[in-house]
Amino acid sequence: MTKRTVTDLDVAGKRVIVRVDFNVPLKDGVITDDNRIVGALPTIKYLVENNAKVILMSHLGKVNHKDAEKTEADKAKNNMAPVAVRLQEYLPGVEVTFVPVTRGKELEDAVAALEGGNVVLMQNTRYEAGESKNDEGLATYWAGLGDLFVEDAFGSVHRAHASTVGIASQLPSALGFLVEKEVKFLSEAIYSPKRPFVAILGGAKVSDKINVIENLLDVADKVIVGGGMAYTFYKAMGREIGTSLVEMDRIDVAKAIMEKAGDKLVLPVDTVVASEFSADAEPVVVPADGIPADMMGLDIGPKSIELFTKELQGAQTVVWNGPMGVFEFDAFAKGTLAICIAITELPGALTVIGGGDSAAAAIQLGFKDKISHISTGGGASLEFMEGKELPGIAVIQDK
Ligand code: 3PG
Repeated sequence: MTKRTVTDLDVAGKRVIVRVDFNVPLKDGVITDDNRIVGALPTIKYLVENNAKVILMSHLGKVNHKDAEKTEADKAKNNMAPVAVRLQEYLPGVEVTFVPVTRGKELEDAVAALEGGNVVLMQNTRYEAGESKNDEGLATYWAGLGDLFVEDAFGSVHRAHASTVGIASQLPSALGFLVEKEVKFLSEAIYSPKRPFVAILGGAKVSDKINVIENLLDVADKVIVGGGMAYTFYKAMGREIGTSLVEMDRIDVAKAIMEKAGDKLVLPVDTVVASEFSADAEPVVVPADGIPADMMGLDIGPKSIELFTKELQGAQTVVWNGPMGVFEFDAFAKGTLAICIAITELPGALTVIGGGDSAAAAIQLGFKDKISHISTGGGASLEFMEGKELPGIAVIQDK
């Protein structure tokens, strides 16, 4: 790693702004998955133990700034307060002060009163309209609250926002432990994989993953495609896909990918269909070329599971992004579950799951501790796999 990391900084007694990704799912104000909070703890604990004055900033959800009524509703929905409560539970003995605003006296006073070894968590950065525009004045104001900046929000490093790139451009900077770990695992898998290297891609849309598929076709030995996007490939092959998900404007791209990939690309050979998108719908297995006109594909079938498991045999590196089916419904979770099992049974393999739905699936299905690395970044890990430069990392000072 050529970038400075938090251990390269002299943090004792300093005000250290840490950009974390506390964009956690909330249901009626209750956090339903706190993996991103847990992921940031090593950096926060290191700073606390080294007597830094820790100022945490994160976005939460999206805030519409074009319509005043929506702005207020979004702010109420995406208040950071429950995150502060959860964080305090993970940091007994540390004073965690939540500041419910993003600028002004209350924030400045809280920072001025902050003692080494304690933490301030600021309100949602997206309460500010200038955050997503990387507004320079806003970045300068926030940067003025700290002496040093640490980027530990892996989930947000693909965003050039005021709290990521903006502040980092104005203060001495370094990466936190989470970003360092994410980059280490993802780089090892994508840039120096032990072979055979098998990539598995799923999820609903080809359009989200075109660049990832193209980049992985260059570096992987096999690229397995399942999930909703398989039906766009089927359509490109001239198959009946019934009422399955399809992106008609991506048929040509799917054709071009298949031509380029040859037998490197592995598609499902059967599919589980149902008459409607519902947890109670009756699952029916049909061959890939036998989808009835009034049914939709919701999972890969047993022959595909067998084929994909065979393709994975002996793999030394596996990267997986996107579920194989609608895993939220038990009747259509078998494909995703089978991939979890197959990759966790590979002896000695490096297994990396890109964030988003496949990470949620692996965690929900109980495989969290059996995977080498589950990324906390959705869009960020996808852009990493596309081979793109991530602005939130690029801006950090080199060693
Ligand atoms: C994510 O959930 O992928 C990150 O927190 C980034 O969120 P965003 O897509 O709203 O910028």
